[in-house]
Amino acid sequence: MKEKLEEIRERARQELAAAAAVENVEALRIKYAGKKGELTQILKQMGKLSPDERPVVGQLANEVRSFIETAVETKKAELAEAMLEKQLEDEKLDVTLPADMSPLGHKHPLSIVLDEIKEIFVGMGFEIVDGPEVEYDYYNFEALNIPKDHPARDTQDTFYITDNILLRTQTSPVQVRVMEKQKPPIRIISPGRVFRSDAVDATHSPLFHQIEGLVVDKDITFADLKGTLETFIKRLYGEDSVVRFRPHHFPFTEPSAEVDVQCFSCKGKGCRVCKNEGWIEILGCGMVHPKVLENCGIDPEVYSGFALGLGLERVAMRRYGVDDMRLFYENDTRFLSQFE
Ligand code: DAH
Repeated sequence: MKEKLEEIRERARQELAAAAAVENVEALRIKYAGKKGELTQILKQMGKLSPDERPVVGQLANEVRSFIETAVETKKAELAEAMLEKQLEDEKLDVTLPADMSPLGHKHPLSIVLDEIKEIFVGMGFEIVDGPEVEYDYYNFEALNIPKDHPARDTQDTFYITDNILLRTQTSPVQVRVMEKQKPPIRIISPGRVFRSDAVDATHSPLFHQIEGLVVDKDITFADLKGTLETFIKRLYGEDSVVRFRPHHFPFTEPSAEVDVQCFSCKGKGCRVCKNEGWIEILGCGMVHPKVLENCGIDPEVYSGFALGLGLERVAMRRYGVDDMRLFYENDTRFLSQFE
């Protein structure tokens, strides 16, 4: 029986050493030291032994049992430890690895140019205001000195919603809304969408963008208009830009002018960019018509002002050498990604 016990101890040691999972270890514990285990089976035969042998074998049997139990616990602890190690290893995160970034968007070319224009005017003390895109005939035309039968209405093919509600054809109605609400001094620009019933081609679109400007205060003169616009254009196109004021007519300003900048491509000689004119038209402007001031409740005997209107697409086309404005609206990412 002694040999048998020794043999069990040795076999249990080897099998436990080889066990790879906690369940296997538990199975071995049952196999050797369980109620019906090998050790128990041997102890059942103790009766056959002589009284001298019994205590010796009994002691050995207890030793073997306690050896197996200790070995089982040790092995279980070892396996649990190894499992934890493996789990920690598997879940290890390398926080220094470069992140998998989703591509970021970027500004649209029209927004890039608009932001630049806003910054120039804000730098000169202008405020930025908003106006409605759906507008009354009164604000878009009447109050701006463009009555019902005025020929200027023909040049601005209008989307009417009802007889007296329309999609604004220009940002100029914002002038009226501001002057009705705010007493001078006024110094605002108002960028936004405008609408005209034009067929789409390289230089026309039924939706485009304008930036309106308005200054009203005591003693505002044409010199203020010239100074402000020259400063604006030089900041936008460079200090060496050459600016020209050309007489023009707008119903809501008197006198009125169009402002050209000398073609930066040919320096005035005439080329493809300026269509051989040597000059490129930038914006319309003028001194606010006394009737318009009056319509807004501002006394033209006390106050005067100037206004300007500029097309955003034109500025952006020139800036980036884009010869077809449809590119701005089609959102072809091959075009847009060039402005990153
Ligand atoms: N509203 C004009 C247009 O759409 C542009 C314009 C010209 C605005 C002269 C003005 C101005 O404020 O003074 O053609």
